[in-house]
Amino acid sequence: MKVFSEKKEINTLVDAYKAERQTIGFVPTMGALHKGHLALIEKAIQDNDAVIVSIFVNPTQFNNAEDLEKYPRTLDEDIMLLETLSKDILVYAPTVDDIYEGKTTSEHFDFDGLEFEMEGKFRHGHFDGVATVVKRFFEIIKPDNAYFGEKDFQQLQIIKKLAEKYDIPVNIIGCKIHRETSGLAMSSRNTRLKPEYIKVAPVIYKRLKTAKTFFGTKSANWVTKWVENQFKNNELLKLEYFTIAEVDTLKPLKRKSKNKTYRAFIAVYADDIRLIDNIALN
Ligand code: PAF
Repeated sequence: MKVFSEKKEINTLVDAYKAERQTIGFVPTMGALHKGHLALIEKAIQDNDAVIVSIFVNPTQFNNAEDLEKYPRTLDEDIMLLETLSKDILVYAPTVDDIYEGKTTSEHFDFDGLEFEMEGKFRHGHFDGVATVVKRFFEIIKPDNAYFGEKDFQQLQIIKKLAEKYDIPVNIIGCKIHRETSGLAMSSRNTRLKPEYIKVAPVIYKRLKTAKTFFGTKSANWVTKWVENQFKNNELLKLEYFTIAEVDTLKPLKRKSKNKTYRAFIAVYADDIRLIDNIALN
């Protein structure tokens, strides 16, 4: 397995692939890889001649210093896991300096309002940080296809908008959420959950599934109130938001329209660990 830490090495490789008209698939990650990441990488392997996986805990997308500090960093285990998929995967694990060149700040982006909804309200500057690093990765790696999980559905929509607004010639491919058998959405943050929280956290997906059932006959407002009530007396899980939104604009649903597609989104604190999830409603 080849692991690179400098963009100039990646540039040389990318130039060689482009010269031979080989397609490049790119899977950006912050490491602490789990089965959800592996599914994205497997899809990238199927679709492309070469696959580059980045492993980089991006400081500019953390709006909380403690969250950044505690984010799991497991490069050796990650590389071992990737080797079980294919030894041909190329890993780009840069330093902060290789990406930010001494200026660890975000660019400011306008995503036509997508950035102000849900996560944008609670994690100020988060999407500017994500878009800054993903745009840099796109410039360095020049992928034909890039793969993102639907667990971060708002991020996926924002990256599609980034590619569209900046005319970046890359197909953005969304892949479905991978879940533990308990229903809990897979996330690198799950490794930090204490046993009592692992036990209760599956309730998040359970509530989403029930909300989906109710959505067939009840208003968005009714379903939202119902979910909020379910979490009211929960000692361990603290609801930050539950929102039903239209998928293209991510604006909260006011009145249902037959030809629109909706999803329910949720963010919950389990101890100091923030978990997010979502479900397609129609
Ligand atoms: O989804 C993530 O893990 C990160 O936001 C990403 C896309 C790798 C950018 O740092």
